[in-house]
Amino acid sequence: MPELGPKNTALFSEVKQRIDPNNKFDDQAAIEMAEKHGEEFIGQGGECIVFSDSQHKHDKVVTFNYKELTPEQATKTFYLQRFFSTLFPKNFPHFSLTAPTSKDKPGVTMRDRVYPAKNRDLVKTENSFFDVIKTCDNLGVKFIVDDSPDNFTKDDQGDEYYLDSLKSANFSEWDAERIKQYMIDNHYPDSQICRTEKIIDKIKTLHDTYKQDNEDREEFLKNCIM
Ligand SMILES: Nc1ncnc2c1ncn2[C@@H]1O[C@H](COP(=O)(O)OP(=O)(O)O)[C@@H](O)[C@H]1O
Ligand SMILES: [Mg+2]
Repeated sequence: MPELGPKNTALFSEVKQRIDPNNKFDDQAAIEMAEKHGEEFIGQGGECIVFSDSQHKHDKVVTFNYKELTPEQATKTFYLQRFFSTLFPKNFPHFSLTAPTSKDKPGVTMRDRVYPAKNRDLVKTENSFFDVIKTCDNLGVKFIVDDSPDNFTKDDQGDEYYLDSLKSANFSEWDAERIKQYMIDNHYPDSQICRTEKIIDKIKTLHDTYKQDNEDREEFLKNCIM
């Protein structure tokens, strides 16, 4: 089976060698590293560094985590992001994959790239993030947003995107029927309604799936000589 994920292996291995769990990259060094491998340096936050992905005509971005991204975090982020990008495609970029940190690779995500408008203040807002919050409030869907201004942008169409990855939400309280009814009332295609039902199911079972993994992991870490 072909390996999924970013194909720019030269960039991948350089990032792997240079990544430091305790420090961000120097921006200039990141720009040079990207150029050397035919990519663009897009940005970085407290958790990851972000490059364009030339395999997708630079229309996707690849993020590399500085610190460990556990299998549970990677899977949770993937499904949470899928849920929100299906419900609000103009406010959350679609994630094509998330992969946990492994012995020889940092954790990665691959996301659709959002192109910020040149002058955001001149673009009329069409799909505001505030509306997402209001809708979610009405649906009883709560989630944690890192509200640093760097995490939000507006594109040329006036759509306001949340760029950071989602990590937690009150998903055990989500009412699947209510969410489904909202999607029916708002004329979402059947395929998306069906996908959302499956995602909700998946998210709700994640905790149990990883319970044993987490216990094993803690046991393993306890026995590690640090
Ligand atoms: N899908 C995307 N499209 C365009 N830029 C992005 C995208 N995802 C992230 N970025 C840029 O990279 C920066 C860091 O990404 P982010 O996921 O917020 O990292 P962190 O979790 O470290 O804060 C963002 O502030 C944004 O400028
Ligand atoms: Mg961020």
